[in-house]
Amino acid sequence: MSTPTLSQPALNPLAQAANDALAKDTPAVLGLLSERGKRFYFPAKGILAQGAEAKQKAHAANATVGIATENGAAMHLACVAKFYNGLAPADIYEYAPSYGRADLRAAWAKKQREETPSLGQHPTSNPVVTNALTHGLSLVGELFLDPGDIVLTSDLRWENYDLGWGTRLGAVIHAFPFFDAKLTGFNQNAFIQALAQFKGRKVVVGLNFPNNPSGYTPTKGEMGAIVNALTAAAAAGSKLVVVCDDAYYGMFFDDACERESVFGKLAQAHENLLAVKIDGATKEEFVWGLRVGFVTFGIKNGTAAAYKALEDKTAGLVRAAISNVSMPGQSIVLKALSDPDFRRQQAEKVAVLKARAAITAVECRQAAYADCWDVYPFNSGYFMCLRLKDADAETVRQRLLADHGVGAIALGATDLRIAFSCLTEAQIPGVFTAAAAVRAVRGR
Ligand SMILES: Cc1ncc(COP(=O)(O)O)c(C=O)c1O
Repeated sequence: MSTPTLSQPALNPLAQAANDALAKDTPAVLGLLSERGKRFYFPAKGILAQGAEAKQKAHAANATVGIATENGAAMHLACVAKFYNGLAPADIYEYAPSYGRADLRAAWAKKQREETPSLGQHPTSNPVVTNALTHGLSLVGELFLDPGDIVLTSDLRWENYDLGWGTRLGAVIHAFPFFDAKLTGFNQNAFIQALAQFKGRKVVVGLNFPNNPSGYTPTKGEMGAIVNALTAAAAAGSKLVVVCDDAYYGMFFDDACERESVFGKLAQAHENLLAVKIDGATKEEFVWGLRVGFVTFGIKNGTAAAYKALEDKTAGLVRAAISNVSMPGQSIVLKALSDPDFRRQQAEKVAVLKARAAITAVECRQAAYADCWDVYPFNSGYFMCLRLKDADAETVRQRLLADHGVGAIALGATDLRIAFSCLTEAQIPGVFTAAAAVRAVRGR
C-alpha cells in the first residue's frame, strides 16, 4: 500500500507571476515574504475584476456585481439614506475595490508626497486602503512574518503590536529601550546594538513616531542616525522590513522634532531594506471610527512591476479577509482631502492639542512632583508618559480612579500614560495633582 504524501498545493499562476516580478527586480523582497506572503495574489480574473471590467464596458446591462440596483443607482432604504448628506448612493452603498477607491488612493499618494519632500521623484507603490492602521499593521505581519520571525521594536510601544504580530502570527518580539538612561532623547546606541544583534538575518523593525505611549518624535539628528543605522545594517547583509507607523503624523508641537516621516529616506535607502508606511485618516483627520488607513511600500530598486506585485498581494489579503473597506468612510475621507478648507481646519485642531501639550509640559514638571516621577520626553502626538518612582503603576492607576476620579493607563510596572489629547486645558493641572497619589501608594 502506498503511503499518502502531503504536498503543498501548487502556487497559483498569479502568485507565481508576482513572485517572479519580485525575484527579478527586488530579490530581497521575495526573500522577506512569509510563506503566506509568497502564496498570495489578487484574483485578477475573479468576480471583483470581472465586475470592474463590466462597470466600464457593459453599456446594455450589467449583471455582474452582488448588489441590488434601482433607478440606475444602488438600491437603498430611506431610513439609512437620511443619515447621509452630500454623498451620492455610489459613494455610500456600493462596494469599494479591494485596493480601495482609486481616487482616494491617488489623493492620499499626493498628500504623502507633499508631506515627504525627501522622497523626491523616487517611486513608491500606490497606497492600498486598509481598515485603518491596525489592519495595515496586521497585513504587513501577514505578508512578512512566519512563526518565529523576529520583530524589533521599542520597549515603549503600542501594545497591539504584541497581539497582532506576536500572539496572532507567532513572531518573536525583541524590544530595545526607546529612551537613553537620562531620558534626554532617542536611544541611538541601543537601537544600533539591537540591529547588530541580528546582523545578517531577516528582521521586521517597527518604528512609531510620534510614539505611542511616550509622545516623542526624534529630532532631525536622531532620525538621521536611525536612517544611517538601518542602512548600515542592510548594507551588512541584514534583510529588513521597516514598518513606519505614522498614526500620529502631523501632531508636532516642537520645532526640534523631525516633521517628515522616516519613510521618505528609508524608501530609497538600500536594496535589502523594504520600507512600509502605515498611515491613515484615523488620528490625523480626527475620524477614529471611520476606519480608513493605507499601506505603502518603498525600496531603493523598486519598480512598477515589483510594487504592483506587493499591491496585488496586499489587496488579495484584504479580499480574503474583509473583501473591502467601508465605502462611506473612504468617500468622506476623500471629500475632506479635496476640501479647500481641509488644511486650515486640521491645523486649527493641531493647535488645540499643541496648547494642551504646552500646559501639560509645565504641570507635569512642577518641582513639587520631583519625588513622584520622571517625565519621558514628549514633543508630539496625543500622549505623554510618567515613569513613577517607587510605586506600582497599576496600583497608582486604581488609586487615581478610586480616590480622584481620574483615568490614566498603566503600562508595565512603572509607567503611567496620560492622553492630554482628551483633556481640556482646565483639567490638566488636576490630573497631575491627583497623580501625586504615588505618595499615598508608597506610604510616604
Ligand atoms: C501607534 C499606533 N498605531 C496604530 C494605531 C491604530 O490605529 P487605527 O485606529 O487607525 O487602527 C494606534 C491606535 O491607537 C496607535 O496608537
